Amino acid sequence: MRRFASAATRRIALDNVAGMALGKNSNITSSIAEKVGRNLHHVPKHPLRTIKGIIEGHFEVAHGGKFRAFDNLSPIVSTQQCFDDLLTPKDHVSRLPTDTYYIDDDHVLRTHTSAHQTELMRAGERHFLCTGDVYRRDEIDASHYPVFHQMEGVKLFTAEELPCGVDGDVTSPECIGFIRNDLQETLGGMVKTIFGDNIEMRWVDAFFPFTEPSIELEIFFKGDWLEVLGCGVIRREILSNCDLSASHGWAFGLGLERLAMVLFGIPDIRLFWSEDSRFIDQFEDGQITIFQPFSKYPPCFKDVSFWLPQDFHENDLCSVVRDVTGDIVEDVSLIDEFTQPKSGRTSHCYRITYRHMERTLTDAEVDEMQYHVRERLAADMGCELR
Ligand code: PHE
Repeated sequence: MRRFASAATRRIALDNVAGMALGKNSNITSSIAEKVGRNLHHVPKHPLRTIKGIIEGHFEVAHGGKFRAFDNLSPIVSTQQCFDDLLTPKDHVSRLPTDTYYIDDDHVLRTHTSAHQTELMRAGERHFLCTGDVYRRDEIDASHYPVFHQMEGVKLFTAEELPCGVDGDVTSPECIGFIRNDLQETLGGMVKTIFGDNIEMRWVDAFFPFTEPSIELEIFFKGDWLEVLGCGVIRREILSNCDLSASHGWAFGLGLERLAMVLFGIPDIRLFWSEDSRFIDQFEDGQITIFQPFSKYPPCFKDVSFWLPQDFHENDLCSVVRDVTGDIVEDVSLIDEFTQPKSGRTSHCYRITYRHMERTLTDAEVDEMQYHVRERLAADMGCELR
């Protein structure tokens, strides 16, 4: 029977990620470390690689090969690249260790491909696409996974290419309007290549620390508005910090799983990581075909109730669950909560759904995993089990 290593043995086995030593405060678990280097966007026949190829191909054709594609940059980046260079405030939630995987105090697993914007611009790149795996501590359900894939796009304009002309002000409302138009036309064209000319789309105001204005693109797909990407006009400070004050431009970032799930009809985000040949063998490079489920094995539900410790965060609970069970848990949901009026203490009850993607789990296995989850909630998180 498969053994589930305890927290201690897992931590001992894990002292570096991709050759980089983990600091003592690192919150990277072995289940995350194992994903670094899998590079699903390079795996032959993989839907994520196909989507990447379709988008890169679109840019190649529609923009005369001007956009250079990067897809091999290390997911380990500095906090400077991931946050500071992008003007993310020091107290922004995305920097918290409940949301981000830290290698050490100054390095993280990138939380978005935007982390490469400034290094590529400083290296002189003016039009580029950059694809890679990104990491975020998150809840557990069919569409959230702590590792996913993004593609970033950036286009810079010189003053000459903008309506203001060589000696003009690249930040004038006219120039900003021009850049925004170019962005919307470019991304509209990309979405039509992916979903067909008749796709309905709309632009929604958004906020990102690194763009102003910021917008999101949504498409109407099978009866629902689906958010596809975030984008906007790059903030001036970012460009001037890269010695690019004379230029201006736009950036976008899109999630590949989201697109692949709707295009290939893939119902559960864990499937992208499946090593079952029945997953990968049903696809062809470069082709969009509808996913054929290979029998779904029965789920098994287990509830756990506990008094919340101070500073309780659901992402920490999900990390424990993932660390103990790998990909076997498909959902963790809060099903009951109450606060005792006298003591003010709060209790939560979570339902954990166990389901293996490739076989039926035995009762003994599930019990053992649940036992370890409970043990770690108490030992690592200070939850008082009920
Ligand atoms: N990095 C943003 C995200 O992960 C997306 C984005 C990229 C937004 C570039 C604007 C410009 O949500």
